[in-house]
Amino acid sequence: MSDGVQTQAAFTPRVFSGIQPSGGLTLGNYLGAIKRFVDMQGDAFETIYCMVDLHAITVWQDPAALRHNTRELCAGFIASGIDPEQSVLINQSQVPEHAQLGWIFNCVARMGWMKRMTQFKDKAGKNAENASLGLFGYPALMAADILIYHATHVPVGDDQKQHLELTRDIATKFNHDFGVDFFPITEPVIEGAATRVMSLRDGSKKMSKSDPSDASRINMTDDGDAIAKKIRKAKTDPDALPSEAKGLEDRPEARNLVNIYAALADMSVDDVLRDVGGKQFGEFKPMLSELAVEKLAPISGEMARLMNEPAEIDRILARGAERARAIAEPILQQTYEIVGMVRS
Ligand code: TYM
Repeated sequence: MSDGVQTQAAFTPRVFSGIQPSGGLTLGNYLGAIKRFVDMQGDAFETIYCMVDLHAITVWQDPAALRHNTRELCAGFIASGIDPEQSVLINQSQVPEHAQLGWIFNCVARMGWMKRMTQFKDKAGKNAENASLGLFGYPALMAADILIYHATHVPVGDDQKQHLELTRDIATKFNHDFGVDFFPITEPVIEGAATRVMSLRDGSKKMSKSDPSDASRINMTDDGDAIAKKIRKAKTDPDALPSEAKGLEDRPEARNLVNIYAALADMSVDDVLRDVGGKQFGEFKPMLSELAVEKLAPISGEMARLMNEPAEIDRILARGAERARAIAEPILQQTYEIVGMVRS
């Protein structure tokens, strides 16, 4: 691999990340991704955040639901604190350069690399022969999402780590094959107490919008009562909470609830345990519920308000696409140039 640090020095510090509009937002999306996206807004980076609708259709999406979910995701971004003036907010299909660079990367990525992607294996399951070709090629399009902007930093949850390693491999191979230093070697940003929020019903499974049990997750559209009920019913163990993080090592459900608390409160796990060590879950769960409702209820309220103004959301996405294309178009043209496409 080429020297990432040296390569990156030449690139504008730019953040890109995306979320699939393939269902409602969960607390996992919020703590692992959106809250981190908000933290990265500011003077240090240009920030581009995307509803990846082209990725969503790698598995069947009802067209009306896809449209609704894309707008709702946009509302979720804004309600959580993404400022559409400061950040560029887009839905992927309105910036065709993603798919155009995606094709080039289909020709750079190797079958062997793609076959190792654990998320494809998980999603395709036993029925891989019947999975769409798009689902298999998905990580090459994801690399294009990032590299069409020469993004240098990508905040994501832990489950996206392998895809970001592939993005680095694609950039490295492209640069090497064409003898250029054109694409940055992107840094994954996987930080904080909640890079992997687990199911409330099973501490060994990731919290996911596709879990058949609604009790396994907190949805960003849940009201205060629903949040409190799900936390009250969350699986735990009979022991009191420890005073140090080490004491959570073999207690996945306890660790998950403490991590969620820490991430919501912007505290370290050690600081949380300093306060709650020795408490039973009967005492800790109401504390967690209160904090979760305090932080999440205003977001779901604002999402509902924004969803009453779909034309305003569409206007924001149109403006975002215009700003995004101003960055992406020249990078695509240079890529075509490097590859040897005649531009007449
Ligand atoms: P997606 O839509 O599955 O999830 C969006 C983001 O939420 C994070 N996340 C979680 N974090 C912590 N705990 C959880 N339980 C949890 N569940 C989800 C994910 O890690 C992710 O950051 N392939 C991506 C979308 C994508 C993308 C990109 C991301 C497409 N192109 C380019 C970054 C850059 C995906 O399916 O995320």
